[in-house]
Amino acid sequence: MPKDPSASATPGLHPPANPHAVRAIRPFIPGRCRVAIIGAGIMGPGIAQVFAEAGYSVDLCDIDEAVLARAMAAFHDGLALKVELGLISSAARQDASRRVQAQALSDGVLAQADLIIEAVTEKADVKRELFARILRQAPPTAVVWSNTSTLDVFALAPGDLLERMVVAHWFAPPHILPLVEVVAPSGAQRHTLEACVACLRDLGKSPVVLQRFVPGFLINRLLRALGREAFYLLDEGVVSIGDLDVAVRTSLAPRMQMLGLMQRYDFTGLGLSLRNLENPQMVDAPVDLSPRILRERVERGELGIATGRGFYDYGVRDRLALQRERDKKLWAAVAALGDAVGDPKPI
Ligand SMILES: NC(=O)c1ccc[n+]([C@@H]2O[C@H](COP(=O)([O-])OP(=O)(O)OC[C@H]3O[C@@H](n4cnc5c(N)ncnc54)[C@H](O)[C@@H]3O)[C@@H](O)[C@H]2O)c1
Repeated sequence: MPKDPSASATPGLHPPANPHAVRAIRPFIPGRCRVAIIGAGIMGPGIAQVFAEAGYSVDLCDIDEAVLARAMAAFHDGLALKVELGLISSAARQDASRRVQAQALSDGVLAQADLIIEAVTEKADVKRELFARILRQAPPTAVVWSNTSTLDVFALAPGDLLERMVVAHWFAPPHILPLVEVVAPSGAQRHTLEACVACLRDLGKSPVVLQRFVPGFLINRLLRALGREAFYLLDEGVVSIGDLDVAVRTSLAPRMQMLGLMQRYDFTGLGLSLRNLENPQMVDAPVDLSPRILRERVERGELGIATGRGFYDYGVRDRLALQRERDKKLWAAVAALGDAVGDPKPI
């Protein structure tokens, strides 16, 4: 059997220096632990669904009351779709529904939390203020997972919070996609990271640990590289938007879903891959951080499904209906992975 490249990957963190700190971090136990999810926008409701289905009591909080109503509608719809698809029973749906409480963020919520999931707006000041409030109001044993996509939150949090803090970066929709990228502050003890990874696995997720913080972590960096080339090809008129998506769906996506990126190279052959890279005619797209095909749409207010039009025209279909259609397809794609979910072993 080929050697598993992940076997040598160990988190680059130090062993615990202070054994009392290790004991201070409680394990996460469904039914006993209270989870506070702060920020009920796009990500909060789906993360709440994952914890609620696993038996945790969840406080889903926001500063905006109107957001809370929308968040609960999305949460209930996520459960309803699972019942419709035969993935959970009606009884399981009712149990999960009862476990989530939507409420305005208060000091009381923080004081009761064992695990705090920070999913607030991606702005440094907003997160900095929240971390300071968590340090003041939450129990000294409460653990914080930040869902930031790009910010170095370890530089924003008070130093006293770092030992019990990690980045746990979920993917939208978080109740469906298995990957969560996990990063600990450099030099931190391992137990917060290990408890996070164990908990995510128990939740049915596929955590991947990064050795250090890099903005965008793994997938958003790869997506950025791919997007740069796609926007270039479209701006140059090489291909239409529809054909580009057909090409991706019919070759890149199924291969990557089953092989990942690096194992695909093994099947292609590393010699050919190197020759392709070295081919002087295969010049990379120039870095263009404001490609016309994207900029013009943004300027026209065509922002994607939120406005009914982006690269495609969605007519009168509303955002929730579109997300539901997408979610049905994503559940099928995740099911097709079967045992390969979270398994780094090559085929
Ligand atoms: N949207 C995605 O696809 C995605 C994916 C992975 C990670 N993330 C990250 O997750 C976080 C949340 O993203 P989102 O897309 O859900 O954002 P969003 O803008 O949809 O929701 C953020 C919510 O936080 C609330 N909020 C702001 N300050 C608050 C505070 N002090 N207390 C309580 N609530 C507060 C806002 O009212 C808003 O409802 C961000 O850090 C983002 O980078 C987003």
